[in-house]
Amino acid sequence: MCGIVAIVGNTPVAPLIVDALKRLEYRGYDSAGVATIHGGRLDRRRAEGKLVNLERRIADQPLTGTIGIGHTRWATHGVPNETNAHPHFSNDDVAIVHNGIIENFAELRAELLADGYTFASQTDTEVVAHLISRELARGSAAVDAAFAALKRLEGAFALAIIFRGDEDLIVGARNGPPLAIGHGDGEMFLGSDAIALAPFTNAVTYLEDGDWAVVRRGGLEIFDMNGHRVERAQQQSIGTKFLVDKGNHRHFMEKEIHEQPEVISHTLSHYIDFAERTTKSDAIPFDFANLDRIAISACGTAYLAGLVSKYWFERLARLPVDIDIASEFRYREMPLSKRSAALFVSQSGETADTLASLRYCRQQGVAIGAIVNVQESTIARESDGIFPTLAGPEIGVASTKAFTCQLSVLASLALRAAKERGTISAEEEKAHVRALTEAPRYTSQVLKLEQQVEKVARELTHYKHVLYLGRDTNYPLAMEGALKLKEISYIHAEGYAAGELKHGPIALIDENMPVIVIAPHDHIFDKTVSNMQEVAARGGKIILITDRKGAERAGIDTLETIVMPDVPQFVAPIVYALPIQMLAYYTAVFMGTDVDQPRNLAKSVTVE
Ligand code: F6R
Repeated sequence: MCGIVAIVGNTPVAPLIVDALKRLEYRGYDSAGVATIHGGRLDRRRAEGKLVNLERRIADQPLTGTIGIGHTRWATHGVPNETNAHPHFSNDDVAIVHNGIIENFAELRAELLADGYTFASQTDTEVVAHLISRELARGSAAVDAAFAALKRLEGAFALAIIFRGDEDLIVGARNGPPLAIGHGDGEMFLGSDAIALAPFTNAVTYLEDGDWAVVRRGGLEIFDMNGHRVERAQQQSIGTKFLVDKGNHRHFMEKEIHEQPEVISHTLSHYIDFAERTTKSDAIPFDFANLDRIAISACGTAYLAGLVSKYWFERLARLPVDIDIASEFRYREMPLSKRSAALFVSQSGETADTLASLRYCRQQGVAIGAIVNVQESTIARESDGIFPTLAGPEIGVASTKAFTCQLSVLASLALRAAKERGTISAEEEKAHVRALTEAPRYTSQVLKLEQQVEKVARELTHYKHVLYLGRDTNYPLAMEGALKLKEISYIHAEGYAAGELKHGPIALIDENMPVIVIAPHDHIFDKTVSNMQEVAARGGKIILITDRKGAERAGIDTLETIVMPDVPQFVAPIVYALPIQMLAYYTAVFMGTDVDQPRNLAKSVTVE
């Protein structure tokens, strides 16, 4: 992951670089640094921890210079401390920032050590700085030295490099993680995304994989890995220069949970004609009628949205779905027929494993659609059709509103597929569309349950382990509840299909392991009640999330029952996502963790 920035400008660049890094902090936040060149010298400030620490460091010891690079880190090689923080130098000739992993770094390091180079850090990045410096020492000009080094690298990288001897040169390179180049008036910018560059310019050129660029105040030249000049179009980015703020909320996550009624409605309006009570066909480029299956892959929460949709596509549209975690899919060489379509779900649109899966499907020649929140992302750009989630920027690392918007898109697509395949009647379609139309209202009703959820959250802080159970579409929701809880409260949690309980996890049940059961009163409610009985019989404490009828009919002693509004089964996953998000949120708040930037995580995962 990590975020990188570089600027060659006409005024001191360090404050501008820090400003851009703030917009990239979602990519990593365990350390940060800036380097500039001034008066023929490279100088840098680095600090462990969040960007504010670097800001303080620079305020105490300002950096001058009108050319510089910056980095916010998510550690891969080497612990997050100041020594391992970027930029990395070699011989005070070269400074470099890197996002990605140099896979052959051990071999390169051994070679450089044998050549007398010493390493100040434990990072993979430092080898790149030394490789370039060695080329310079052998007499190469800066650009040639960088190109020679790039040719030696294996793995994934976005790089920005500056050279002590040239205060009008940045070399940028991309192989995997994204890199955008911003065009200014007599100044140029590089950044991991266009949002980082938005305060400076909206005129952006994206490097493609294998591209590297020579960036000077006067302009830009782009080359491929054979050293041939290539042209890449300049585009207008839609990034806003305003940093999104928390409003009157304590955390971004809280704000984003509360935004859901609005953003779900906004997203649905892209796919549903509310007046005609039908799905819009113009928004959907797939020929659903002629597909024989859909392969969906994604990571984390986005994967769980895909898993919910498997139930929808198969039940409503009779369309089989293969759903995979992208890091598995990319290597499992799944055969895909010409009548398959591939669908990728990603908030950031940059997740490395999801992108690699997309490229595998591209080679197989199947139609590719992407459900993305960042419409300028690499996954969006490499897809045949984009299905946007109109959630707005999601800043909290734990995904909330992006998830429910992904579900809203997937539900709309499943309905459209059902209509085109003739597997639902016009009446059924209308009823489902009506249910979707009501989803934003149901979610606002759920937000009113906040106080009760807060009470349950306070109780959860007394436990070390929590089990979530659900059947059907509530099974992926159980996994999502567990994922959300563990990632922000650091309480260990697992999500299971309720029917699987007796095949193993039941051994864990005792009074120290609360069991959260997600069970609206649906066609398999009674089956889940039996599983709750099994938990109760072993002294397990149950927290039941259900509706009015479910609460009346469960007939079981619970620690707490959260009674949700009555909602049609089709939209229940969208609505039931909220209490599990709120539960994780409040538990984390009570535990005193860093809710928006939990330890060890990053918002955009551009490494394997
Ligand atoms: C969990 C979470 C992650 C992401 C996953 C995929 O709350 O946010 O599990 O869902 O890293 O990220 P995207 O959707 O950007 O591909």
